[in-house]
Amino acid sequence: MSASKKITTHTLLDMKHKGENIVALTAYDAPTAALINEAGVDVILVGDSVANVKLGYENTLPVTPEEMLHHVKAVTRGNKHSLVVADMPYLSYEIDPKEALRIAGRFVKEGGAEAVKVEGGIEVGPVIKELVRINVPVMGHLGLTPQAVNRLGGYRVQGRRPQEADKMLTDARILEGAGVFAIVLEAVPEDLAREITKKVGVPTIGIGAGKGCDGQILVVDDMLGMGAGPTPKFVKRYAELRTAMVDAVKSYAEEVRTGEFPGPDHTYSSPAKSSASQ
Ligand code: KIV
Repeated sequence: MSASKKITTHTLLDMKHKGENIVALTAYDAPTAALINEAGVDVILVGDSVANVKLGYENTLPVTPEEMLHHVKAVTRGNKHSLVVADMPYLSYEIDPKEALRIAGRFVKEGGAEAVKVEGGIEVGPVIKELVRINVPVMGHLGLTPQAVNRLGGYRVQGRRPQEADKMLTDARILEGAGVFAIVLEAVPEDLAREITKKVGVPTIGIGAGKGCDGQILVVDDMLGMGAGPTPKFVKRYAELRTAMVDAVKSYAEEVRTGEFPGPDHTYSSPAKSSASQ
């Protein structure tokens, strides 16, 4: 899609029909949203991965709706063209549908998000219907759903066993029936993701699900090489920004210690000796 056309949920459906791959990335702040826009990315997900990527939590479970809203607002301030999807954090939609509607409503009304994402299959069907009823578009998320990490026993590929694969396909159809506009498939074997993509009418966006999906998403810090630890197999690192940043900070520290910084280029002189604008 072009960098200047506003992307909507309808654009994504058109892209599926035309066989154009959808490009999605996460973002958590305004400058990153702005640079992602400049690069012409279709969808920005304010992922609950902000918990472990930016807020120092061990996983996505502790992040609160209030913390998410803070990041949703920042991203929408930096965004112009991409479709902004806000992740519903753990326990914000599973217990009380009314609470889910209030939180999603705040993400849209106060945060400026255009859609929300929920994790899970048949069990989240009813809340998806309710969200769509109040005009909040919903993205689904199947496969490795990080909010279920404790039940899944870790971050592992999902859908390798025939029973699991059948359930995932059924869940995808249920999500479609409940009204989602797209489904994220995370850590799913390529052939299963391709089959689901063929059998549902809404776009699938893969992360670790191979080429057969209608689009791809990655965590922006992962693909830019900003994290300290190892990245999952499905992450391709397009830059090594953490190394570049550590090197830059080391150079600064060294120059401060030796007195090389600040030099004349970064120092003001008095008006008597030079122009006031310097
Ligand atoms: O929170 C997140 O970043 C996500 C993506 C990895 C799909 O859910």
